[in-house]
Amino acid sequence: MSKGGPMLRLDRLLANMGYGSRREVQQMARAGLVVLDGEIIEDAEQRIAVTPDLSGRMRIKGKPLDPPPGLTLMLHKPLGVTCSHKEAGPLVYSLLPDRWRRRDPALSTVGRLDKETSGLLLLTDDGGLLHRIISPRAHVQKRYHVTLDRPLRGDEGAVFASGTLLLEGEDKPLLPVQMEVLSSTSAYVILTEGRYHQVRRMFAAVGNHVTALHRDRVGDLALPDDLAPGQYRILGDADLALVLPPR
Ligand code: URA
Repeated sequence: MSKGGPMLRLDRLLANMGYGSRREVQQMARAGLVVLDGEIIEDAEQRIAVTPDLSGRMRIKGKPLDPPPGLTLMLHKPLGVTCSHKEAGPLVYSLLPDRWRRRDPALSTVGRLDKETSGLLLLTDDGGLLHRIISPRAHVQKRYHVTLDRPLRGDEGAVFASGTLLLEGEDKPLLPVQMEVLSSTSAYVILTEGRYHQVRRMFAAVGNHVTALHRDRVGDLALPDDLAPGQYRILGDADLALVLPPR
């Protein structure tokens, strides 16, 4: 058995990964439905080293084990779904396997995208990683493609870059935001913080209105062209290094 990860009892590990209660997991094991490295594990009290390669080595009811804790993924968030565990209406979690909603530690979105914003959304069960990505001190750049109701007037880039723009109802100016004009009614903006409805409120502050908003990059991690809305992909260390360069 490979070593290195935390040791957890099989029943606790699988219950925390949403496979059922500890009792149900014990029954599954007794029924020969849990196989590690080709051998049936009948004793659910057996301690297992939780290493990232475990999904390739363990099968549950004949299927590969879900990714063990330390799971981070990117989702192409479609329009119309909400980044919340409990609000009404369709939630981003409904786009993931059912069992993943019962995981402990839970999967959470890394920041939020509005219901009417699409694009690259990260989810993780690693609280430390989540906070390192969303902290403004980390300066992780998030790029948004913005479509506007009215033509740009020309001074928006300078206003956003100034570091002095105050959003309505706030008393702390925004950190500088970069803007790249794509056409008279579309642009990229690059933020390093994530205030509530920030992009929509920035354009409202310069007399415009955002009609479509799509995030296509977090750090140097881009939303792949072949990841359709609603699809997700599990991230590895190389992807995470693009989001958050090693310290
Ligand atoms: N800014 C917004 O206004 N909405 C988002 O979803 C993200 C950034």
